[in-house]
Amino acid sequence: MLLITGGAGFIGANFVLDWLAGCSEPVLNVDKLSYAGNLDTLRSLHNDPRHVFVHADINDRETLNRLFAQHRPRAVLHFAAETHVDRSIHRPADFVQTNVVGTFTLLEVARAYWNQLTGENKAQFRFVHISTDEVYGALAPDAPPFTENTAYAPNSPYSASKAASDHCVRAYRHTYGLPALTIHCSNNYGSYQFPEKMIPLMLTRALAGKPLPVYGDGLHIRDWLYVGDHCAALRAVLARGRPGETYNIGGCNEKTNLDVVQTLCTALNRIKPKPRGHYADQITFVADRPGHDRRYAINASKIEHELGWRPAETFETGLEKTVRWYLDHPDWVNRIISGDYRNWVEFNYTQRLASGAFFSEIATGASAKRHRASR
Ligand code: NAD
Ligand code: TYD
Repeated sequence: MLLITGGAGFIGANFVLDWLAGCSEPVLNVDKLSYAGNLDTLRSLHNDPRHVFVHADINDRETLNRLFAQHRPRAVLHFAAETHVDRSIHRPADFVQTNVVGTFTLLEVARAYWNQLTGENKAQFRFVHISTDEVYGALAPDAPPFTENTAYAPNSPYSASKAASDHCVRAYRHTYGLPALTIHCSNNYGSYQFPEKMIPLMLTRALAGKPLPVYGDGLHIRDWLYVGDHCAALRAVLARGRPGETYNIGGCNEKTNLDVVQTLCTALNRIKPKPRGHYADQITFVADRPGHDRRYAINASKIEHELGWRPAETFETGLEKTVRWYLDHPDWVNRIISGDYRNWVEFNYTQRLASGAFFSEIATGASAKRHRASR
């Protein structure tokens, strides 16, 4: 079976659902159910004997030892992490604990387990570490996209903690021979994403008639990847990736945040028009994120050439699927936004929105004009 960490989160759960939809190999899903973990997402697997869920922290070495010994996985896919940059700015310690210490603990347990394997079981074992493009830092506007050889330059507590975990994984491969692979992927979007991240946040707030808080001038660039394409890339890495290698995974969709919000509003206008006005009227420029990386972009040619993976979705088709999924699953969203989530929104946005008028004025240059023109 596969051992998945963080399989109740956005990408991990999408991976588990996709995996079990396509094959019979069982999954052991280890997740501590932080605020971002959600068993609702895995509801369709209730009573499915191929899905074994264990509520545990990756810092709990004893439980991990027991789970490895009992279930004897052939591979680990390590998704579990603290993942939200804004939260990392306010509470970096959680990021060090899970992303650095937790990954180290998992590596220790996996190494001990792998050491006592023999023959084919040992040769075939894989440890796939899910990392991010953010470890490479920010790109200049005209710089070529990140390759696997780009030097690390993490800028946020989140990316620094992920970079530290990447270094541990690399060292366990180099020193102990653990058959580990690391992937760096760009910003994901799609079904079941926690609505603190940009696309589901804007979507749910647009539908609720609330301001759409664009940080700074809105011209920061991300390279958007549909989550189903990410899952397909991970299946290719697990099946055919070379131990010790790293693979960049991106959607070839570089967009400014303002463009993304604008496109989202246009899609919503078409699919679920407001009685009056345009969703884009809700766009509000707010105080920027401290240390906000200006641009990320991925060169995915290595995984394309070596493993034959290519994204199937364009940004437009992926976004359409995403918008329709959120419109069709109000209960999933409502159960989140009626809970603790409200405290985060209040904490992160109250002050930002209060200074919104000021930032809208700063952004009234080219960006706001462009945004009005493209409406
Ligand atoms: P997420 O925040 O939605 O989910 C993280 C999951 O990990 C949650 O279910 C949470 O309960 C679990 N978790 C957290 N701490 C844990 C711990 N100590 N022990 C066990 N489980 C724990 O994250 P996501 O967006 O699904 O990201 C998954 C992975 O992909 C992360 O490693 C992240 O760094 C990486 N990644 C994400 C993106 C993106 O755009 N979402 C992009 C690149 C890389
Ligand atoms: P996010 O989804 O938090 O991902 P990351 O910071 O890991 O790239 O944010 C994506 C982009 O959207 C990022 O440039 C910050 C911006 N953003 C906003 O403008 N407003 C928001 O409310 C949020 C959450 C993000």
